[in-house]
Amino acid sequence: SKKAVLGPLVGAVDQGTSSTRFLVFNSKTAELLSHHQVEIKQEFPREGWVEQDPKEILHSVYECIEKTCEKLGQLNIDISNIKAIGVSNQRETTVVWDKLTGEPLYNAVVWLDLRTQSTVESLSKRIPGNNNFVKSKTGLPLSTYFSAVKLRWLLDNVREVQKAVEEKRALFGTIDSWLIWSLTGGVNGGVHCTDVTNASRTMLFNIHSLEWDKQLCEFFGIPMEILPNVRSSSEIYGLMKAGALEGVPISGCLGDQSAALVGQMCFQNGQAKNTYGTGCFLLCNTGHKCVFSDHGLLTTVAYKLGRDKPVYYALEGSVAIAGAVIRWLRDNLGIIKTSEEIEKLAKEVGTSYGCYFVPAFSGLYAPYWEPSARGIICGLTQFTNKCHIAFAALEAVCFQTREILDAMNRDCGIPLSHLQVDGGMTSNKILMQLQADILYIPVVKPSMPETTALGAAMAAGAAEGVGVWSLEPEDLSAVTMERFEPQINAEESEIRYSTWKKAVMKSMGWVT
Ligand code: G3P
Repeated sequence: SKKAVLGPLVGAVDQGTSSTRFLVFNSKTAELLSHHQVEIKQEFPREGWVEQDPKEILHSVYECIEKTCEKLGQLNIDISNIKAIGVSNQRETTVVWDKLTGEPLYNAVVWLDLRTQSTVESLSKRIPGNNNFVKSKTGLPLSTYFSAVKLRWLLDNVREVQKAVEEKRALFGTIDSWLIWSLTGGVNGGVHCTDVTNASRTMLFNIHSLEWDKQLCEFFGIPMEILPNVRSSSEIYGLMKAGALEGVPISGCLGDQSAALVGQMCFQNGQAKNTYGTGCFLLCNTGHKCVFSDHGLLTTVAYKLGRDKPVYYALEGSVAIAGAVIRWLRDNLGIIKTSEEIEKLAKEVGTSYGCYFVPAFSGLYAPYWEPSARGIICGLTQFTNKCHIAFAALEAVCFQTREILDAMNRDCGIPLSHLQVDGGMTSNKILMQLQADILYIPVVKPSMPETTALGAAMAAGAAEGVGVWSLEPEDLSAVTMERFEPQINAEESEIRYSTWKKAVMKSMGWVT
């Protein structure tokens, strides 16, 4: 049968904490043509530890690419139209591998992992100069969240890693580096690189000079020769070496939250988006200026879309647990069988009936940065049932967003008039309505929710030497939006929010 004639297509890998996806877009219309998704395992070998298998992650990427290409074939779409591939990824998650064998030397230590708490404590006692040493260079607080301390732990505790470093066989990377190195040939000439957005989450990267920082590497004791080359977010890094898309350039790379910012077209100073994935991350574009927060937000590299293009920065509010609380209710408590069922349960009651759920499984991130916090469910009575707990879990995601939006408003001075949202959880209408009620501003969601992948595809398609995607504002097709308006009164919204804050206080100080 005749193949459909289409303009150039662009593929995007979206490697998140919970799942891997590959999606293919039409570069002229931004229309999503086909995709495939695979869930990723998480291992919890000890309390507070979170690991993933880098090989499983890599295989999931190949599987998603192959399956998506098959689906395109069934739609009569010729995969030779795919002109570029972008990569977006869960950030901070740390991998060290052997460049001679291509084998990881330990599991990936996931961003949520807390094993480095004591490393953080001992490092914070010997910060050189003033306490601002790390933050002023990286925009980040010294926390278990970022890669440098995870890498320090691997160097201190894993013999294979130590040996490989001594023998100059070790390479470090966040998931983007591991994937790009492997996909561009691995032991046969794989390209060891990362982009400025991912580098800015390692705590080793100077966000002003856009280079690895010698002093930071000395402070954390990291050998600089194992670090990847830092490139812009949009340029050709290398070509796919195997599989259905062999020979296609990989030409976009962005940490997933930056990718969503690009995919939501937040290119102007003051534009912000909130993505509900495993965690939940609100980023506000601050233009070419690094804005430092006084209210617990991070300063991070938003994107740099080309070697000669300027860098943009963002203020970020990071919440560790959003979708992860639903997965926990499914896998650990078994009160739902699929994540989608949460909406049905919450809808049955329409209220938490005074039950509050603070899912501080990995301590609390923004705005508290409190590693001693642990999860609590409180306000229970004999009347409480699983529906109320489900509702409280959804409310928790919304309250946490409210806390970072408040911090953002205080730092920026100009309150956001509405919130642009995306990510898997935004298909949950109850959650979206609750979010509008709790923020007391409208919540606006694009009809195509895969904005993370879209951002990576845009970066890949716009790269020099590819040039199939134009990022000029007039070319950005009018995206249709769904709007959720606040439906409760402001007073009720405030009462619920202040009770939530009481619950948060109770969650703190559980671990000493
Ligand atoms: O910083 C972690 C973040 O990049 C993870 O994203 O989508 O897996 O929640 P996600």
